Amino acid sequence: MSDVERTEFQLPERDVVDTRLQAGEQDAETTLRPRSLDEFIGQQKVRSQLSLVLTGAKNRGVTPDHVLLSGPPGLGKTTMAMIIAQELNTNLRMTSGPALERAGDLAAMLSNLMEGDVLFIDEIHRIARPAEEMLYMAMEDFRIDVIVGKGPGATSIPLEIPPFTLVAATTRSGMLTGPLRDRFGFTAQMEFYDVTDLTRVVTRAATILGVSIDHDAAVEIASRSRGTPRIANRLLRRVRDFAEVNADGHIDMAAARGALEVFDVDEAGLDRLDRAVLSALIRGHGGGPVGVNTLAVAVGEESTTVEEVCEPYLVRAGLIARTGRGRVATAAAWHHLGLTPPDGTLGLH
Ligand SMILES: Nc1ncnc2c1ncn2[C@@H]1O[C@H](COP(=O)(O)OP(=O)(O)OP(=O)(O)O)[C@@H](O)[C@H]1O
Ligand SMILES: [Mg+2]
Repeated sequence: MSDVERTEFQLPERDVVDTRLQAGEQDAETTLRPRSLDEFIGQQKVRSQLSLVLTGAKNRGVTPDHVLLSGPPGLGKTTMAMIIAQELNTNLRMTSGPALERAGDLAAMLSNLMEGDVLFIDEIHRIARPAEEMLYMAMEDFRIDVIVGKGPGATSIPLEIPPFTLVAATTRSGMLTGPLRDRFGFTAQMEFYDVTDLTRVVTRAATILGVSIDHDAAVEIASRSRGTPRIANRLLRRVRDFAEVNADGHIDMAAARGALEVFDVDEAGLDRLDRAVLSALIRGHGGGPVGVNTLAVAVGEESTTVEEVCEPYLVRAGLIARTGRGRVATAAAWHHLGLTPPDGTLGLH
């Protein structure tokens, strides 16, 4: 094992660019969350489709169809769920797939709903099977069967649920069962943001945080944010720290570049875990194909993290490809690590 690899193995604590939430960051996220469809930057297609769905339902005086929001972490699914409730002027009840371990957990949630409420289930792909089956009926008929008692004496009591709108989020829409997916009237596929939209995210956040920033510095932060607003906001806060400590607090290009270097974000926006994955794939396995579990073990992370957090962006950036036999590094990935791709590498001209 080379020295380079050994250092990278110790590194995957993902301080700056982790797309998952860390302690103390919740407040920052709340402050920066857009509160209406108009305030929401980017995702033009999703926004206009959703606006039609919501307006149509409002005009007819009915609750809108159930909505599935799917896409990688940090692209605005939770934000969008909150906006939907806001636009409909109703309550938002929040829960998550892992919290719905038993059908009874869901029954408790559903029986407390008021007419027109939005029920948000985050990470719906992690919902337990019995709860999922109860959800089918609730979504379709606004009715559930509550089982009382156990064994042969158990009885099922039908319970009416007031009409509600389910908004569900998932980073893994492929893991949803067919029957569940079919019960959503509208599926919004959230895409990675382009640099123009992310620049607006950075500029907006800077205004809210009271930070002054040059336009080119905002573009620089945006272009290194892996297409993800959560990362853009996080990098902005780190750059602000840097500018406050090393200069007068104003963010110019030098401050942005200096801070991003300190925090190990490279020109492509890749962080240490991304680079460790590329390195394991290329230096450890000759560029693949290699299974995701092997890669995860090599970088010391859960395979779900590699699959849900790292891979979507690496694929979209054209650095790796998913094939039937495993993950493969493209020529661009070899070049990114400063290596020459061997003959036959994907994307080599
Ligand atoms: N379109 C947007 N415009 C401005 N800021 C945004 C936008 N989308 C997301 N954000 C910012 O990114 C942060 C993360 O968004 P959000 O929590 O909605 O992501 P998510 O898709 O639910 O992620 P996860 O899958 O990890 O739950 C928000 O706090 C918000 O500040
Ligand atoms: Mg979320």
